[in-house]
Amino acid sequence: MRNLIWAGLAGAMAAAAATPTFNHDIAPILYSNCATCHRPGEVAPFSLLTYQDAAKRAKQIATVTQSRFMPPWKAEPGYGEFQNERRLSDAQIATLKDWAANGAPEGNASEKPTPPTFTDGWQAGQPDKVFKLEQAYSLPADGPDQYRCFVIPMNLDHDAYVKSFEFRPDNRKIVHHAIVFSDPDGNARRLARNGNSYPCFGGPGFAPISMVAGWAPGGSPSVAGPGMSLTVPKGSDLVLQIHYHPSGKAEQDQSSLGMTFGDPPTVGRGMVFINSRAIHIPAGESHYVVKAGITIPQDVEVLGITPHAHYLGKDMKIDAKLPDGTVQHMIWIKDWDFNWQGQYRYKEPVKLPKGTRVEIEYTYDNSVANIRNPSHPPVNVHWGEQTTDEMAVAFLSVKLKSMDDQALFQKQIGLEFINEFLAQADNLNDFPPEISPQARARLSMAISLFDRNHDGKLDDEERKTLMDFLRARLQ
Ligand code: HEC
Repeated sequence: MRNLIWAGLAGAMAAAAATPTFNHDIAPILYSNCATCHRPGEVAPFSLLTYQDAAKRAKQIATVTQSRFMPPWKAEPGYGEFQNERRLSDAQIATLKDWAANGAPEGNASEKPTPPTFTDGWQAGQPDKVFKLEQAYSLPADGPDQYRCFVIPMNLDHDAYVKSFEFRPDNRKIVHHAIVFSDPDGNARRLARNGNSYPCFGGPGFAPISMVAGWAPGGSPSVAGPGMSLTVPKGSDLVLQIHYHPSGKAEQDQSSLGMTFGDPPTVGRGMVFINSRAIHIPAGESHYVVKAGITIPQDVEVLGITPHAHYLGKDMKIDAKLPDGTVQHMIWIKDWDFNWQGQYRYKEPVKLPKGTRVEIEYTYDNSVANIRNPSHPPVNVHWGEQTTDEMAVAFLSVKLKSMDDQALFQKQIGLEFINEFLAQADNLNDFPPEISPQARARLSMAISLFDRNHDGKLDDEERKTLMDFLRARLQ
């Protein structure tokens, strides 16, 4: 009898030890992985700070963490190691599941950790200069999401060397994500006509663009490494592209961007831009593949990568094929979501030697089964910047060996871009805006010169001869 009681008690104690409680097991997981977004006034639709908040959603929490819908993190493990990775371990997911299955007990009050505190102000300290939307923007209570580009004059009378950027959403309930561009040529002002903003979706509506920073909920300020400040030419405007998601109430937003300035850069930097305009996705097609790539003209270290597509994009894979034949996986997103795009910064810069070919392979789903498809019924979709168009883009932000390499790299990568255009374009006279009008005239002439068999196109051999000629002239 006594033995039985002991056995029963021990069993009960073991079960108690094994059953996770909010205070002992769940709060630490939620506080460090969910609270950045799930707290009052933040982007997520509810807070997860108190026992009551979490307990009534225990089952839902178990489901969305099991499926890895939450926390939102799109990059597949094993394909690039990134900073600020938001992934729960298998053990944490099992604990959340166990807790829900056992009736979500609260546990011992003495074990409850203190809830995290968050800085409401600037995360990276007071910036040297704050750029704010000139007027608050009004968003109606409902209706579709809005994507808007705001032009903010920087009024710089000299070039600026930017050490850090911090986007600070004003109304976190409606600001879903933001991308910052710099515009030295007044393109955005022209698009905004008399006002200071204009609707924009896939990009800022002009080219060439230089992307400065991206922000999504839970994101952190971007701080340049030593010697790596970013030069913003005087007279530039900032263009803030903000994605607004209506909250059910009429809202206003006047977000801002803080910057700190430093010394001119001493380390060379560059941007690698991969892009395909050869996108023609038939209505109903559920597996449409777009491939594109570019050859890296110098030894580089990749600091960050930004894949980009719209609502039909599903699977996005970027690999680097090194000259020695090895393949370096850069990133793989299996379930692309336009609402969770952004720059992925590598934990350690990824070294790619000269001659490496970086290739994107994106798959699109234009069927009714794609719940994000903006067209019902699906329609034929082509390249473009509108919601109902598609894009296949990747930006790689790279570090060069020295500052002296920077100007040459810019020219070389421009040439590689032209090479890709010549290799895949349907129409050689339909130049993308990234190729300047001056370059177009010269390029047209070169195309006609190197088109030995006069068929109006450059076959692979002709293109190779042209590129070798142009590359030789750059050195
Ligand atoms: C980076 C911000 C962010 C983080 C971190 C985050 N969430 Fe969310 N969560 C959201 C947003 C935003 C939504 C609303 C749905 C959406 O926009 O995707 C959401 C929705 C949810 C939902 C409702 C899902 C549904 O089907 O309606 C649950 C449950 C949830 N989150 C749980 C969690 C848990 C648990 C964690 C931590 C393990 C977490 N979230 C981390 C932003 C976040």
